[in-house]
Formats: sequence, C-alpha cells, structure tokens
Amino acid sequence: MTINVNSVYLNGDFYSPDAARISVFDRGFIFGDGVYEVIPVFGRRLFRFAQHLARLEASLREVRIANPLDAAQWREVLEQLIADNAEDDQSVYLQVTRGVAPRDHAFPSDVQPTVFAYAQPLRYPLPEQVTQGVAAITVSDLRWSRCDIKAIALLPNTLMRQQAIDAGAAEAILIRDGQVTEGAACNIFVVSAGRAITPPKGPFILPGITRDLVLELMQAHGIAHAERPVSEAELHAAEEIWLTSSGKEILPITRLDGAPVGGGRQGPLNARVLALYREYKRVFCEGQVE
Ligand code: PDD
Repeated sequence: MTINVNSVYLNGDFYSPDAARISVFDRGFIFGDGVYEVIPVFGRRLFRFAQHLARLEASLREVRIANPLDAAQWREVLEQLIADNAEDDQSVYLQVTRGVAPRDHAFPSDVQPTVFAYAQPLRYPLPEQVTQGVAAITVSDLRWSRCDIKAIALLPNTLMRQQAIDAGAAEAILIRDGQVTEGAACNIFVVSAGRAITPPKGPFILPGITRDLVLELMQAHGIAHAERPVSEAELHAAEEIWLTSSGKEILPITRLDGAPVGGGRQGPLNARVLALYREYKRVFCEGQVE
C-alpha cells in the first residue's frame, strides 16, 4: 500500500519512510507499550500545541516514560516535518515507546525511548458529509479503564471502528454501563432540549483537545452547554449528535443505528458552533491566537 508521507523523524534523524528502521524488539511493536498524539496543523501552524504537549506529558507520566524531548525540541522536529509538505493544513502524528529490550512484561532498566513522528496533508470530511452528516452505530465499549491515556494500543478501537464500517456507518459510539463514553476515535456531544452536552472527563474517555475548544467557544458565545453523563436513551432521543476530533472538526452524526437523528441532516446548533470553530481557526491562521 502506498504511504503518502514525505519524511519521518526517528530517534534524532529524518528519513524517507522506506529508509527508517526500528528493532523488532521495540516494546511498541511487542506490547503496544507507548503513547501518541495527533496534532492538527492549520495554515502551517501547530494548532493548540501547548495543549497537545500537556496531554502527551500526562500520558507519558501515567505510563512512566520520561519525555525524551522538551517543548522547543518537539516544536523544532515537528516544524521540520511540516516544512517537507506543500499543504498548509496537515496532521502531525508522534509516538513515544518505552524502547528496545528483551521481551519481558516488567519495565527494562536503562532503556532509551523510541521517538517517531511524521506529518501528512489533513484529509477533511467532504462538504456533503458536513451538510448531510454521517452514520454511526452504538457498540459496547470494549476498552480498559485508563482511556484517558493516549496509548498506542488501539486494538479495541480498531475492532469497534471496523464494526461500524461493516455496518455501513462511519463511526462507533461507545456505551459503557448504559452511558455514552466517546467514539472509537473521537469525542461525542448530544443536543438535548437545545443544550449541547458531552460526557465529563474521567478514566473512560480521552480528554479531546477539540472537545475542550468546542466547550470554550460555547462558553464564550453564551451557548447553553453542560459536561455531564449522557445515557444511551438520551443519545437515541438527541436532537443532534456531533463527533469531535482534530481531523474531523465538529461533524454531525445524522443516522444512529439506522434511524435518523433529529431532521436527518446537519442541525442548527452544529452549524452555529462549526462556524465559530472555523472563525477561530481563521484568526489562528492569521497568527492572532496561539
Ligand atoms: N483520535 N477520543 C479518542 C478515543 C480519540 O482517538 C480521539 C482522537 C479523540 C479526540 O481527540 P482530539 O480532539 O484531541 O483529536 C477522542 C486521533 C485523531 C487519532 O487517533 O487519530
């Protein structure tokens, strides 16, 4: 399969993707022992960089890997990768694994983390996916109880996403003990009685950077919202459902388990909040906000 990436960073050097090599004994490969970030780049600038680095720092702390680079070093590496692409809007992927050691579940001593990163053009949802919305299915949340860590071990997420694809949908909405947690690779908002609601942060969801920005924008513009548990019944009765992530922005979900959501197309609150988000991005691209 063709990989549309011009260059990658690996442990201090830049390579063409075909030339980069890691050990088969890397604990990322053997155990999924590592963490990652996906950072959007708008107008060639890293978006919400401080927030993404803070989340990376939190993930690394929780899995007890020392951050191999400081903020300035991360920025330098990522900006060099961004410079290798012509597109203004990109997506940066970075991951840190515990490193290379003989296979043993316990942590090795004296191991250097493996650091890997690349940038590629951002693939936005198609305009008709925004106006028509996309389909989702509900699935039982198969994951562990530390979903707040952005771990590279994503087997449950891949299984749940594929279940959605096999059902002709774009995303799976995860249900744990009768409550919505998030999507297979996104956070979820529902609109209920005109108010946009998203499940609270905690061990069962990833604290999404887009989720935080959506909440900030609604707060700043006096749009009714809340962070509180959302039951499966409330999800099914929602006036609107949105998914949020760095690449998908704020995408309407207009079919749930085969039934239309609200009017079956982008709802008015989604259109309003998406417009605020795009305006925020526009100002960011002009260099007026960090
Ligand atoms: N995923 N929840 C999960 C499980 C995710 O994987 C993601 C993002 C989010 C949204 O986080 P953010 O708004 O910071 O992108 C929530 C990335 C994009 C991925 O794995 O590709």
